[in-house]
Amino acid sequence: MTVAHRCPGANRAKGLFIKTYGCQMNQYDSGRMARVLADSGYREVSRADEAELVILNTCHIREKATEKVFSELGRLRRLKAEAAARGGRVMLAVAGCVAQAEGEEITARAPWVDMVFGPQSYHRLPELVVKAGAMRADGITGARLVDTEFSVESKFDHLPAQPATRASAFLTVQEGCDKFCSFCVVPYTRGAEVSRSAAEVLEEARRLVTSGAREITLLGQNVNAWHGQGTAGGEWTLGELIAALAGVGGLDRIRYTTSHPRDMDETLIAAHRDVPKLMPYLHLPVQSGSDRVLRAMNRRHGTGLYLKTVERLRAARPDLALSSDFIVGHPGETEQDFEATLDLVREVGYAQAYSFRYSPRPGTPAAARAQVPDAVKAERLARLQALLNEQQHAFNRRAEGTVQPVLVERGTDRSGQLVGRGPYMQAVHFDGPDRLIGSLVRVRIVRGLAKSLSGRLVPGPSQEENCRP
Ligand code: SAH
Ligand code: SF4
Ligand code: F3S
Repeated sequence: MTVAHRCPGANRAKGLFIKTYGCQMNQYDSGRMARVLADSGYREVSRADEAELVILNTCHIREKATEKVFSELGRLRRLKAEAAARGGRVMLAVAGCVAQAEGEEITARAPWVDMVFGPQSYHRLPELVVKAGAMRADGITGARLVDTEFSVESKFDHLPAQPATRASAFLTVQEGCDKFCSFCVVPYTRGAEVSRSAAEVLEEARRLVTSGAREITLLGQNVNAWHGQGTAGGEWTLGELIAALAGVGGLDRIRYTTSHPRDMDETLIAAHRDVPKLMPYLHLPVQSGSDRVLRAMNRRHGTGLYLKTVERLRAARPDLALSSDFIVGHPGETEQDFEATLDLVREVGYAQAYSFRYSPRPGTPAAARAQVPDAVKAERLARLQALLNEQQHAFNRRAEGTVQPVLVERGTDRSGQLVGRGPYMQAVHFDGPDRLIGSLVRVRIVRGLAKSLSGRLVPGPSQEENCRP
């Protein structure tokens, strides 16, 4: 191998700092952005003030999420000014869903931003960075380059895959949403539903496993709407894709998120019965327990379909743990509607759930309707959360005394303590040596706490069997 002579500093890597907001798909995308920029000489650093390029990968789902981005941009303005005073230049980019939704409004509100690009432009990133770098930027004024095109080419064909950095890895199989719920920005920020081919997904899964992943979570805004050409011709559903993924040697666990109740088809339900690697946990958002509100939300399902689906899932996998998202105070929600949500929660029984106050989003149909007062939303949210917390704690307590296979994720702030996830997505804390990080161990659950489990390591190899609570 010959090594070309270079001037000192010529091949010095430039610092890249990515701050990620929002959902798991943003985390996955940030990994891919880092990977594509590594090919252009950028190396990730852990602090913004060590970086020459700062990317905020943003979320637009609720007002609070968006406001966080603008306050961070205010802080980064000072960072840019300090670098400029030293004769240096920090480039600042806004990516993700706020970028897609607000585009030029971002550069109008924060003119020190150099680049704004949406989730469908990430494969053009190296080119954008070079272009913005060459543009004149006086003092802290940014280059103000905006790219929010939904391109016809698939970014997946152009973005290098990210090797697994942890034992649990994400893999995007589907992006975008065609459902248009009345409250939601995702169809506008992520665009129309696109599925990747089974061959591409299987190849990326094999690569992730080779680089250390033992668990893969398939991602999509509507992951169970995934459909694509199977490896032996013919169209596959997500259930069939999962069955094929189970054949990847070295992969121990498969999960998928987020599903829409309407797209929970027979093959996917069957996969919960037939594929042991498919973990017994499902995030299946229902949003509300009132059929009237579900209609106003344009959810395209009622409580009947949801409850029937839960029943079929539990028949296929009796120990399946369920999670959901709820919105309280959607326009038109009455006290009676809200009580129907509490009833549905009692009927289903959740292992955990996320609940939010309705947040009006610009450009979505529900934002233009008469709003439920904030105080009413707050009061309803507190009641719902009290019930959900109670259910979660009871679910956690039921695990006491069982032995669970835990995929060890990392150490905690307490020296000698590790944390990992059990099959039902519960965080499990226990004492053990760091060398266990990334492996599957068995833990006897001693206590089921409000939000997590704690237990003791059981010596010997992990066994997925005999571990169900
Ligand atoms: N199907 C998607 C949902 C994304 S948004 C997915 O892949 O995860 C996640 C959750 O945020 C939704 O299920 C909904 O409960 C909540 N949400 C979306 N828009 C909202 C809004 N305007 N106000 C409050 N919560 C909202
Ligand atoms: Fe948003 Fe509804 Fe699509 Fe989920 S299904 S991403 S909530 S529009
Ligand atoms: Fe947020 Fe976009 Fe994900 S709005 S939740 S980052 S799809």
